[in-house]
Amino acid sequence: MDVDTDKLNAFMGKMVGDLGAALNASLILVGDKLGLYKTLAEKGPMNSAELAQTTGTAERYVREWLATQAASGYVDYDAETKRFSMQPEQALALANEDSPVFMGAIGNLVAATFLDEPKISEAFKSGRGVGWNRRSECLFCGTARFFRTGYKHHLVQEWLPALDGVMEKLQRGASVADVGCGHGVSTRLMAEAFPKSRFVGFDYHEGSIEAARLGARQAGLAERVTFDVASAKSFPGRGYDLICFFDCLHDMGDPIGALRHVHEALAPDGTCMLVEPFANDRLEDNLNPVGRVYYAASTMICTPSSLDQEVGLALGAQAGEGRLREVARQAGLSRFRRATETPFNLILEARI
Ligand SMILES: C[S@@+](CC[C@H](N)C(=O)[O-])C[C@H]1O[C@@H](n2cnc3c(N)ncnc32)[C@H](O)[C@@H]1O
Repeated sequence: MDVDTDKLNAFMGKMVGDLGAALNASLILVGDKLGLYKTLAEKGPMNSAELAQTTGTAERYVREWLATQAASGYVDYDAETKRFSMQPEQALALANEDSPVFMGAIGNLVAATFLDEPKISEAFKSGRGVGWNRRSECLFCGTARFFRTGYKHHLVQEWLPALDGVMEKLQRGASVADVGCGHGVSTRLMAEAFPKSRFVGFDYHEGSIEAARLGARQAGLAERVTFDVASAKSFPGRGYDLICFFDCLHDMGDPIGALRHVHEALAPDGTCMLVEPFANDRLEDNLNPVGRVYYAASTMICTPSSLDQEVGLALGAQAGEGRLREVARQAGLSRFRRATETPFNLILEARI
């Protein structure tokens, strides 16, 4: 074998970096769960004893955790004072739940992929799916927290205004369905912004609908926001002004069937908003860090979900605008355009 040593070294360097990131994923979860990042960001610089005492944790573990975070570049270490601290940028990503770049929930998501790995490996062999209802609990809350960041900072401010004439309807009082709503984060954010409109969230997963109902009650929105267990192909109601799919159309077995149902349920001048993971149409154009995250999530989460349902089209999380446009066209939603985008999302408008 003709091996190029420089290439081998570069590849091994990359693998060691990836190994460290993979092992640190569980420690991100620990830091998030026990409030280690939040406390350090608020009260740092601190040494391990101070952080342990403030968070009610054991110093020896916290010392090791801090060393990992410093080696990861997630916190800073001052060798003179022997104290650790977080720069504003690190704190925004790991300690501030409301920041536009909060990533602290990734530990939940990564944990779910490991916990469910035996089912997924089995599915690789059988070709069958693994439905949302067979997944680990942390996938549901991890998804809700992870996507909340983007919805909180873009949905009302940029995505809805990018749709043709939708803001005016929402301000006047519109009827809105949020399909595949999960824990209902997007539904609540819209309801808070548009008090004259009525919102209903649907999801086929009972546990998620229970969590969404609780969230609406806690937010004092229960009068204008309801949640029901229903599949995307059969949710009740007609004449909706807006029907939204947040990061879920590609998880569905029959996305064409779901959009056919949207065709029937929309008001004649209504709008369907599809929020999908950002992707280019060709595989070779998605071979980048964002594509890597989405292809991995797609393999472990989205594709098994779709294959578990009727039709099992399995669009994948990197379907891209071209395939999504074709799905909408086959469902009769022929007016289709990219309304806007972020580095992580495509916002697509589909109309009759
Ligand atoms: C990745 S999660 C997104 C949840 C939520 N929209 C969000 O953005 O946080 C996908 C959701 O689609 C739901 N789902 C999948 N297939 C469905 C179907 N056929 N009908 C209704 N909901 C479905 C799942 O239960 C899950 O809540």
